[in-house]
Amino acid sequence: MKIRDIDLGERPVVLAPMEDVTDASFRILCREAGAAMVTTEFVSSDGLVRDAAKAIAKMHTLEEEAPVAVQIYGSIPEAMVDAARMADRAAELAGGHGADVVDINFGCPVSKIAGRGAGSGMMKDPDKLVAITEAVVKAVRKPVTVKTRLGWDDSSKIIVELAERLQDVGIEALTVHGRTRCQMYKGEADWTLIGRIKENPRMRIPVIGNGDINSALRAKEMFDRYGVDGIMVGRASFGHPWIFTEIRHYLDTGELLPAMSVADRVALAKRHFHLSLDLKGPVTGVFEMRRHLSCYFKGLRDFKDTRIKLVTSKDPEEILATLDYVAARWGDETPTAESVYGL
Ligand SMILES: Cc1cc2nc3c(=O)[nH]c(=O)nc-3n(C[C@H](O)[C@H](O)[C@H](O)COP(=O)(O)O)c2cc1C
Repeated sequence: MKIRDIDLGERPVVLAPMEDVTDASFRILCREAGAAMVTTEFVSSDGLVRDAAKAIAKMHTLEEEAPVAVQIYGSIPEAMVDAARMADRAAELAGGHGADVVDINFGCPVSKIAGRGAGSGMMKDPDKLVAITEAVVKAVRKPVTVKTRLGWDDSSKIIVELAERLQDVGIEALTVHGRTRCQMYKGEADWTLIGRIKENPRMRIPVIGNGDINSALRAKEMFDRYGVDGIMVGRASFGHPWIFTEIRHYLDTGELLPAMSVADRVALAKRHFHLSLDLKGPVTGVFEMRRHLSCYFKGLRDFKDTRIKLVTSKDPEEILATLDYVAARWGDETPTAESVYGL
């Protein structure tokens, strides 16, 4: 699959953008694990106009992450065009690698965003959504992609027609999360309409399916059933960035990798923690790792007190010592493939 001249390989698996989760440290780990592309947390176009420094900082990416998309959202056309131009020039403005792709978020369901007509709120006004996309495509040099949902609610699942309109105004890939805005994250993602986009003979841009991919088996099933060009993984990567290795290996060989041992998980968590400290400093670096540290060791017996220590300590040395303790106490435990893959 290609986005213009960016070759993501056959059946690529990419990391979903997630606010407060997919910062540079996590994006690097996921790329190392085999994610074909990563995306920044979303950047508010209004924020870029109001508090440029904070928003521009979110556009900072590193060479190791490439290919990487910078994602923007908003509902004011002029602000979106300005934001897109800034994303396009992220390397100059924020330093580092910058953006290989400018991605527009029309999928966020959170009330304070969708309620103001941004994110998935834009699905209530598809003409405006398409017009903003067209203006952004015209304003930037980098390829523009869109990430969205099926529609606003059950009675307005507009994605099949919308996909074609977005292609016609020049986007170069489309990611669809198989839920409506009103579903938020409830129920199961429905990939039927994602498959229908792919069946439309007029569609030529790559389509990436997203929603509820939590194992290698599920990833393969979705590629096979719905014919998507790529797959995007979000929540299942929390504290489990090696899911990209597991999926890649299964897609390429048909074999399931054994589950990762606790000792290896400790080593990965430490590397993640060091990256976080290097990139964000000892205060924010510790704080922003908490969400991840609480997930790395899911399923270990008698782990509660240790988990609390990992997510409450403010001292990097203490956290590293606790991780050493996890390796010493649980290091020999390796979850079975059955428990990991739900066989
Ligand atoms: C904590 C969190 C933050 C998210 N932030 C963003 C975001 O900034 N931009 C975006 O397009 N989607 C965002 N999403 C949606 C995910 O990218 C993805 O579409 C969704 O989680 C469904 O995929 P999954 O079932 O693999 O998690 C977020 C999701 C979560 C759980």
